[in-house]
Amino acid sequence: MGFVGGRVRRDDEILGLETGAGVAAAAARMFDLAGPLRGVLHGTSLWNAGAGMLTTLAINEHSPSCHHDFFALNYLRASADAIITTGKILRCEPQLVHCLAGPGQQSEALADYRRRILGKTTPPVTLVLTSGEGLDLEHPVLHSWTRPLVYTTHDGHWALDSRAADCGVEVIADTEPSLQRAITLLRREFGAATIVIEAGPSTSRQLYEPPAVDHLLLSLFQGPKLPAQAEGGHFSTFSRLRTQFAQATEGSAISTPDGDWFFQRFSR
Ligand SMILES: NC(=O)c1ccc[n+]([C@@H]2O[C@H](COP(=O)([O-])OP(=O)(O)OC[C@H]3O[C@@H](n4cnc5c(N)ncnc54)[C@H](OP(=O)(O)O)[C@@H]3O)[C@@H](O)[C@H]2O)c1
Repeated sequence: MGFVGGRVRRDDEILGLETGAGVAAAAARMFDLAGPLRGVLHGTSLWNAGAGMLTTLAINEHSPSCHHDFFALNYLRASADAIITTGKILRCEPQLVHCLAGPGQQSEALADYRRRILGKTTPPVTLVLTSGEGLDLEHPVLHSWTRPLVYTTHDGHWALDSRAADCGVEVIADTEPSLQRAITLLRREFGAATIVIEAGPSTSRQLYEPPAVDHLLLSLFQGPKLPAQAEGGHFSTFSRLRTQFAQATEGSAISTPDGDWFFQRFSR
């Protein structure tokens, strides 16, 4: 992997977005987009651990921070008809919500992008893939802007359903829940055309065997070191991604006080 074209931009160049048109232009610059993305979208923040090995960043106070990476996450949420997360992420990220967020006017700009450019007038579904064991039904992601849905086994449904109904969370059971079947469910039952995967590496890797992701938006931290607490599971390698996707953009580079980042899109 190498960054070949363009200049290294400063991270604070993304601050100050005020309109949906500004959001579209910023995303187009980062990921070489000709227009809105549809299909199954996977955004992930990784660390280049060397020799093309891509390690997922665990999201916590030890992870390197980057305004462009946060924007990429929120750009995908703004594009989504449905967002898929997991029970484990809810446990790892107790403050997680799927609201459109960002510094300054960015959340209003993202909402403007969603409403005026994409024409979406309702919030996305948040689907939590889980066995149901230890699921906190009071978790804020189930009680924010999006429509909450727990997708689980029949045992999980049995354990959760009456309490879930009391707090306004829908539960759907399946004999054999999986990420791929969650996508099918969201398309079939919820009419979702744009589905954003926020699952961690152990679950999202299943979507690459064979590839079922239409667009992978990759935020790659290039710093030489990562705190151990920020190191998540192995995701993939550059050489493998190049065999799985027909198109890879040249990429764009951003400098931050923590180190440089690289943003690239892989598309089928
Ligand atoms: N850098 C990034 O872009 C990024 C993105 C997302 C997450 N993360 C980080 O990744 C870490 C979590 O990733 P992970 O790979 O360890 O876990 P994960 O893949 O997110 O979640 C695993 C969990 O998903 C649920 N699950 C998966 N398959 C299932 C199935 N077939 N049936 C029922 N439930 C199923 C189970 O939840 P239950 O345990 O509830 O049963 C399982 O424990 C966190 O540290 C998070 O911060 C990073």
